[in-house]
Amino acid sequence: MYGLVNKAVEEMVISQFGEDTWETIKAKAAVEEEMFISNEAYPDDITYRLVASASETLGFTPNQVLESFGMHWVLHTALEGYGDLLAAGGATLPEFLQNLPSFHTRLTLIFPKLNPPTFKITEFFDKSLHLHYYSDRPGLTYFVIGLLKGLGVMYKTELGISLINSRAKGSDHEEFLLTWQADGSSP
Ligand code: HEM
Repeated sequence: MYGLVNKAVEEMVISQFGEDTWETIKAKAAVEEEMFISNEAYPDDITYRLVASASETLGFTPNQVLESFGMHWVLHTALEGYGDLLAAGGATLPEFLQNLPSFHTRLTLIFPKLNPPTFKITEFFDKSLHLHYYSDRPGLTYFVIGLLKGLGVMYKTELGISLINSRAKGSDHEEFLLTWQADGSSP
């Protein structure tokens, strides 16, 4: 994945636990890079090793690390670095979700080697929709949950998230039922 992802993990750990903890996590993960370059592609394995090592070092489960990382990604990495792009995704949370399937397409201009996830929306009603998440990468379901929670915070809209189908249950993708009470205001 692009260095931007590993850099965001670094930034999240340092902001919450300090530089020394980050150095410990990196050493345990046997990651030798001094720093990550945002627009350079790195093997996915580096990101997975960092998440596993953060989980071990901090005493959280890998899914807890991934969920926190998803929230950090939306509320810091994306909002601070790509605010205009994010705002262009929709004026309300339901609008953003409806546009999510094409969101990463725009990003391939900035990141030509992007291997993005695929999202599909079905059963889109006033206060609910089904979000389908397809990826070549295993194990990132809780990253998606964190991203969705981050979007809920960003749009000040309470979002209900239930995982109703998954690769763990034999499907070829994850399916979430998302529900909300009222449309949030613009970010
Ligand atoms: C401006 C905001 C965003 C940027 C710049 C961005 C960029 C990226 C980048 C660079 C990757 C790594 C993929 C690779 O290197 O091949 C990625 C992965 C991913 N993104 Fe985004 N993204 C943004 C917002 C979102 C949002 C809002 C969601 C969903 C709610 C999302 C869902 C994901 C997921 C699930 C992955 C993991 C890859 C996978 O599942 O295969 N992203 N994104």
